[in-house]
Amino acid sequence: MSDVSFDQVIRSRRTTRAYREEPVPEATLSELVELATLAPTAVGLQPWRFSIITNRDVLARVNAEVKQACLAMIGQVPDLERFRSAFEDPEYDIFYGAPALVVIQGPRGNQTALLDCLLAAENLILAAHARGLGTCFVGFLLLARDSQEIRRALAVEDGYEIVAPIIVGASDAIPQTPPEREPAHIAWMR
Ligand SMILES: Cc1cc2nc3c(=O)[nH]c(=O)nc-3n(C[C@H](O)[C@H](O)[C@H](O)COP(=O)(O)O)c2cc1C
Repeated sequence: MSDVSFDQVIRSRRTTRAYREEPVPEATLSELVELATLAPTAVGLQPWRFSIITNRDVLARVNAEVKQACLAMIGQVPDLERFRSAFEDPEYDIFYGAPALVVIQGPRGNQTALLDCLLAAENLILAAHARGLGTCFVGFLLLARDSQEIRRALAVEDGYEIVAPIIVGASDAIPQTPPEREPAHIAWMR
């Protein structure tokens, strides 16, 4: 099957770090989650769970908690030092003002489920882009994913952990150039 327009979706996607306030319709968010669940899944297990947070107060609270947790972690994780000024900046929002956060959760400590959830995440990201919506995988949130407060705020189920937190919304960013990537390192065995 050849589909040039799908290639174009992949080629033109970029991470979005500025969002308009307008909400994403719930039907669209549900559709994105349904498309996420069509990803390949080991042994057909479909181990994922989803939560969708559109409550701005919750997002603001989680943003503040994650930034605090990241600051407290800088001693143990030196790579975080370069983000210190962002974590200390009251204006910096790890969710960039996005109107929705989709949290893909997988059973705790299950490596195969982790892979399934990440494949589902990419489906969601590309499906959102195909609908003209921006996304960003919010890795910073993973640094604080064991916090009970954050788990509760993001409706993480018992026995599950946050694998892929993805914000979704209408982009308020200037149009970006296509992703720049190094040529793929391929070992051909012919
Ligand atoms: C696992 C993962 C975690 C990420 N975490 C963050 C994050 O916390 N904040 C952020 O602004 N971007 C985050 N990103 C987005 C990357 O910075 C972005 O994908 C990368 O710079 C390439 O840019 P592109 O997505 O526009 O091609 C994350 C991406 C991935 C895959």
